[in-house]
Amino acid sequence: MAILLPGGAGYIGSHTAVELLNKGVEIVIIDNFSNSKPKVLEAIKKITKKDFKFYEMDYGNKEKLEKVFEENKIDSVINFAGFKAVGESVKKPIEYYKNNISGCLVLLETMKKYNVKKFIFSSSATVYGEPQKIPITEECKTGGTTNPYGTTKLYIEQILKDIYKSDESWDICILRYFNPVGAHESGLIGEEPQGIPNNLMPYIVRVASGELKELSVFGNDYPTHDGTGVRDYIHVVDLAKGHIKALEKIIKEQKGLFIYNLGTGTGYSVLDMVKAFEKTTNKKIPYKIVGRRQGDIAICYADPKKAKEELGWVATKTLEDMCLDSWNYLEKCPIGDVS
Ligand code: WQD
Repeated sequence: MAILLPGGAGYIGSHTAVELLNKGVEIVIIDNFSNSKPKVLEAIKKITKKDFKFYEMDYGNKEKLEKVFEENKIDSVINFAGFKAVGESVKKPIEYYKNNISGCLVLLETMKKYNVKKFIFSSSATVYGEPQKIPITEECKTGGTTNPYGTTKLYIEQILKDIYKSDESWDICILRYFNPVGAHESGLIGEEPQGIPNNLMPYIVRVASGELKELSVFGNDYPTHDGTGVRDYIHVVDLAKGHIKALEKIIKEQKGLFIYNLGTGTGYSVLDMVKAFEKTTNKKIPYKIVGRRQGDIAICYADPKKAKEELGWVATKTLEDMCLDSWNYLEKCPIGDVS
């Protein structure tokens, strides 16, 4: 029995692949390398000393996907495939809706055909829009997403709820990620954003390396302790481990549709992140304060209690780990090195 990982060569997919292989679980990865590199697959093998099957293909290609289900004994699917750049999604809504939603529908349709009904979905805290309350619980209202990327997550969540309503033999787990950062401690896999990064940690790392001159801090007039935006940064390895717990739940224990926040429950501001990075890496991060970024909210962090109680999962890595591992990855795999 194998777990299928569409998008398994990507940032969160690759770290989850490592955790699964380390647990002795058989996996099959499919990826089209639209936002990842073939060398990631070799890195996963090097870290785990384990092998796995790989198909280079779009996850929304029905014919090829059926072949994957024919050729392997797939038991469950963890779907990491999808475009994820917020700014790009505003410019390319059709591409985002097509790839993220149509692709996922083809995947679900194929799963149904082959009677594979265990599904874990990478969702995002972005589905909460402007949060109703802080810390955010899973019961908080969703909606009011400010970009097509976030809306694809929201719509897929609704699709999954409707599928479950129609057929309760599905077991579905929706994982709402907060702000994933960091990299595997080996420095062999990590985040590889194309072009100039939009997210805070990859930007800080590139300022530290000298590739970018300074960080623009988007606003210092938010109602937070230092005026800059507060987020729940979570180490990608902790996040990957959350998937293992979710999988264990839907495979072994309980049937149903479950939703969990995967965050630490602690919020750090932009300037907290700059200071922590400087302290742990001994690198100077020059920054300037600029205006607020459109669509940003002041504060967003999780109440991770439900995941702790029901999955037995808690994030254990520290802010220092997040900074050090992000920097270590860049040092070990300089830009352009992963081909
Ligand atoms: C964090 C904080 C910025 C860059 C986004 C997506 C979300 C999720 C994760 C998944 C904010 C500030 C940032 C910079 C800055 N997606 N900032 N200067 O916006 O919380 O979430 O990524 O794939 O769906 O919306 O994360 O890292 O962009 O920003 O001051 O150059 O850092 O204003 O307060 P965000 P982020």
